[in-house]
Amino acid sequence: MSIEDAKKAVGKAAADLIQNDMIVGLGTGSTANYFIEALSVRARNNLFLKAVVPSSQRSHILAKRLGLPVQELNDVPYVDITVDGADEIDPLKRMIKGGGGAHVREKILAANSREMIVIVDESKLVPAVGVGKLPVEILPYGSPATRSNLEKLGYLGKWRIQEDGSFFITENDNLIYDVVFSAPPPYPQQDHEQIRLVPGVIDTGFFFNIAGRVIVGYNNGRIEIH
Ligand code: 5RP
Repeated sequence: MSIEDAKKAVGKAAADLIQNDMIVGLGTGSTANYFIEALSVRARNNLFLKAVVPSSQRSHILAKRLGLPVQELNDVPYVDITVDGADEIDPLKRMIKGGGGAHVREKILAANSREMIVIVDESKLVPAVGVGKLPVEILPYGSPATRSNLEKLGYLGKWRIQEDGSFFITENDNLIYDVVFSAPPPYPQQDHEQIRLVPGVIDTGFFFNIAGRVIVGYNNGRIEIH
């Protein structure tokens, strides 16, 4: 079984947890896409959804194309369950997200859902968050100064650049600065707070105390729900 098969399997497992009449938040990314596809299969059979609420334009387009009843977060009274992927998750369910640059909206959606179900393949499991990069969304206004202020605090990293050499621009029209830690930080919550205090920073990709059930897909085909 490949990583792709594991992503598909957790997407389907999450779709199987969705019940009639729910309002469902849709994450962003390749694993979330498998969830959206599996959910649309159920919705074409016997599952009735009140609405699905995307966290990005990409998920919006996919959900619409698959015939799901898309609504915006501002237009729904609540969200029952949001299902989303992650770049890293540790045993304390602390996460790093934003590999797709959508973490600001993903966090707002997840934080305003009754439950966030996280779907990952085993490559995303880490002993402590901060193994890879930490995406930080930054307002373009004054961005060189914002970066320099982060560097002065020891948060070294790189602007996220697209293949054509241009800056990656988020759906909120902002930039992404990917912080790289030399080792997983011992107190990531403190780093999150310190980074957020820098004027010009919108939010980091750290997610604390948001994940509910976590569905992990292993390369040997096993699926675990924690
Ligand atoms: C997007 C995200 C994604 O959930 C995260 O990057 C995982 O993506 P994938 O499922 O493609 O590995 O946070 O902003």
